[in-house]
Amino acid sequence: MNDQFVDDKIEIVKNTKKFANFFSNKCILITGANGFIGKYFIDVFMEYNKFLKKPIKLTAIDITFKKNVYYRNKNLSVLKKDVSKKLKINKKIDIIIHAAGIASPFYYRQKPLETLDVTINGTRNLLNIAKQNKAKFIFFSSSEIYGDPDSKNIPTKENYRGNVNSMGPRACYDESKRLGETLCYIYSKYFNVHTNIIRPFNVYGPGMNQNDYRIFPNFAINILKNNIISIYGSGNQTRTYCYISDAIEGFLRVVKYGKIGEVYNIGNNKPEVSVEQIYKIFKKINSKKIFAKYIKHPKSYPADEPQRRCPNVEKSIKHLNYKPKIKLEEGLKKYMDWAKKNYKY
Ligand SMILES: NC(=O)c1ccc[n+]([C@@H]2O[C@H](COP(=O)([O-])OP(=O)(O)OC[C@H]3O[C@@H](n4cnc5c(N)ncnc54)[C@H](O)[C@@H]3O)[C@@H](O)[C@H]2O)c1
Repeated sequence: MNDQFVDDKIEIVKNTKKFANFFSNKCILITGANGFIGKYFIDVFMEYNKFLKKPIKLTAIDITFKKNVYYRNKNLSVLKKDVSKKLKINKKIDIIIHAAGIASPFYYRQKPLETLDVTINGTRNLLNIAKQNKAKFIFFSSSEIYGDPDSKNIPTKENYRGNVNSMGPRACYDESKRLGETLCYIYSKYFNVHTNIIRPFNVYGPGMNQNDYRIFPNFAINILKNNIISIYGSGNQTRTYCYISDAIEGFLRVVKYGKIGEVYNIGNNKPEVSVEQIYKIFKKINSKKIFAKYIKHPKSYPADEPQRRCPNVEKSIKHLNYKPKIKLEEGLKKYMDWAKKNYKY
């Protein structure tokens, strides 16, 4: 395992130790477990097991796992499964964390139907398992469900209803996440399942796949290869970004403290920066010279992107005592140091 992962894992465990006991003796099922966010959950739960009186029994599912994967740990079962297909789990489950999804615009543009399937069929399959087991159900939705909010709804609160195009190139992702949320609402209201919805806002950090094509891996791999960075569109679109250790802490707080049926924005509410400003930070933290050019959105990347995205996190602060700590420049340095050692270029 890489050093930065270890540091981040230690930080997450330190910041969540007070309530880690809640997970003791729980059977947890996590989907999307071979993804960027899923891998952190596995590591943190296995780290908790070093001090919990009764260990967590974790079932980790991902469509990309190879059979009989690397982990040799009696408290961890790793299953290669497509959650959008019929799903049977032959054990009692206390908590389900549904993080499987096709999250990168580059990939969901190539696989729109699979993107719908994992979020609609997958969520329904897993909600049925939650219902049978009376398990808590945590759904990874997205800030994308807000679409392109008008300026009076930025920073965006959880009760904003969104401005989403059902017919555009991003619709498979945005609309399926919206329907996934509706499924959570139905299972919560009609079948008494304890559901919580997490809407992450641009999480980044070590562990992002170099072929992910989201903004930071795109910048990092091109810098490392001495390529000119391509900025799509005007470069004026703004986002806030959340470092992975802060995000995982927020997600764990939702699992522990989330109130029944509630939705939580998890992200940083500042700084809200443009792609142009991100480029300047990358210039500052890299010792070598880097260059950028402005291009039209390539065919592989869906245009129609939101102009601004920034969460209002007051509810997460109030209900979960959630406080992100890592500054953007600090987080990008950690990520870039990790990328230098781990990406192939
Ligand atoms: N990272 C972010 O900034 C962000 C922001 C908003 C929402 N989210 C959501 O959080 C979740 C995790 O995001 P991530 O960044 O780790 O993405 P990721 O792409 O790194 O991981 C997702 C994982 O889901 C798996 N998967 C996809 N379809 C599957 C299926 N049918 N059955 C089983 N596994 C399947 C993939 O193989 C992958 O390992 C996703 O649902 C994503 O939509 C992430």
